[in-house]
Amino acid sequence: MAKVFLKRMNRRISGGHLWIFYNEILKVEGEYENGSVVDVFRPDGSFFGKGYINDNSKIRVRILTWKNEVIDRNFIKNRIESALKRKKKLVKETTAFRVVHSEGDFLPGLIVDLFGDYLVFQITTLGMEKMKDWILDSLVEIFKPKGIYEKSEGTFREKEGLDNREEWVYGKGPELIEFEMNGFKFLADTRGQKTGFFLDQRENARMVMDLAEGKVCLDVFSYTGNFAVHLLKGGAKHVTLVDYSERALEVAREILKLNGFDSSRYDLLPGNAFDILKSFDREGRKYDLVVLDPPSFAKSSSNLESARRGYKEINLRAMRILKKPGVLVTSSCTQIVSEELFREILFDASFDTKTSLTVLRRGGQPPDHPVLMNVPETQYLKFYILQVDKR
Ligand SMILES: C[S@@+](CC[C@H](N)C(=O)[O-])C[C@H]1O[C@@H](n2cnc3c(N)ncnc32)[C@H](O)[C@@H]1O
Repeated sequence: MAKVFLKRMNRRISGGHLWIFYNEILKVEGEYENGSVVDVFRPDGSFFGKGYINDNSKIRVRILTWKNEVIDRNFIKNRIESALKRKKKLVKETTAFRVVHSEGDFLPGLIVDLFGDYLVFQITTLGMEKMKDWILDSLVEIFKPKGIYEKSEGTFREKEGLDNREEWVYGKGPELIEFEMNGFKFLADTRGQKTGFFLDQRENARMVMDLAEGKVCLDVFSYTGNFAVHLLKGGAKHVTLVDYSERALEVAREILKLNGFDSSRYDLLPGNAFDILKSFDREGRKYDLVVLDPPSFAKSSSNLESARRGYKEINLRAMRILKKPGVLVTSSCTQIVSEELFREILFDASFDTKTSLTVLRRGGQPPDHPVLMNVPETQYLKFYILQVDKR
């Protein structure tokens, strides 16, 4: 096994961060293939940990353990079991949750979601790809599922030299997998985005129910209608779902039917949310409650400014089309936009719209999407429910 020697022990590495960047490495001794497991040593030659290496990534080594233990099928199985144990106590009223959340569950590069009797997983790194057989064996042993779907796609895979893969790799299941969440019925779309459903908004979506009674609502960036279902269950008079994915809206229609809502209580509007919000503003349309749950607007700090503009634009438009008082449900999943920056953007939008914002509820990631204090990058989701008043 190749040996990686660190240049120095900085606070980040000593403090339990799992990433070792290319410029933090003094030398590598021995032959290795990209994706293989290496031993990592401190500058004084003592053992530090084990991780997998990839020369094509600036994150040269991702640490798997600080113990001198064998990385094999058992190691993977134990890691999945301990993630499951942590979550079982905390995740309630759902047949779907995230079993493995990459670094957050000490398995960098692996995401596994459980939807009822099925599992959907995604591998994002070459190191994890090499452990795929162990992962599959472990998942079958632990969950005895009816089927396991691999949904490994995205630009990050290309960078790691991996092809996209979307197929049933164990058993078989439906294209739309039914599950229950917060007591309601949902479908995970194996042909949809990410693992098929955004489980990270589970607890946040439940919070909007208390505020929905009798309201006319707009669910912008709705995907398959997670927020819309909660609003309608909470007694909303009407919800308009907006998303540019026609597929997502088709599945949303199925989910709304599955929950028995009368079709007069909702409509589905395909299109660009930025244009739709602008035109609603120009037309003077008014809503009691607006949900904004856009996709990530920036992957790196070079796009931070455009992300900031994007968030300001949609939040400003939403504030303008809200009745006063109205309720703005707003979130950001852009990891590089900090909580502080997000609040600053909301303040900017409120400044320009001459509104005042009262925080009714705050949210974030549920416990099945853990945040590691030692790895700040594991924190990405910001969520606010705000009352918007005239100033
Ligand atoms: C984070 S997901 C929303 C998840 C959803 N709120 C939920 O809880 O399931 C973002 C959604 O925004 C949609 N989207 C991205 N850019 C858009 C745009 N410019 N206009 C409309 N929809 C967009 C995507 O198709 C995706 O469904």
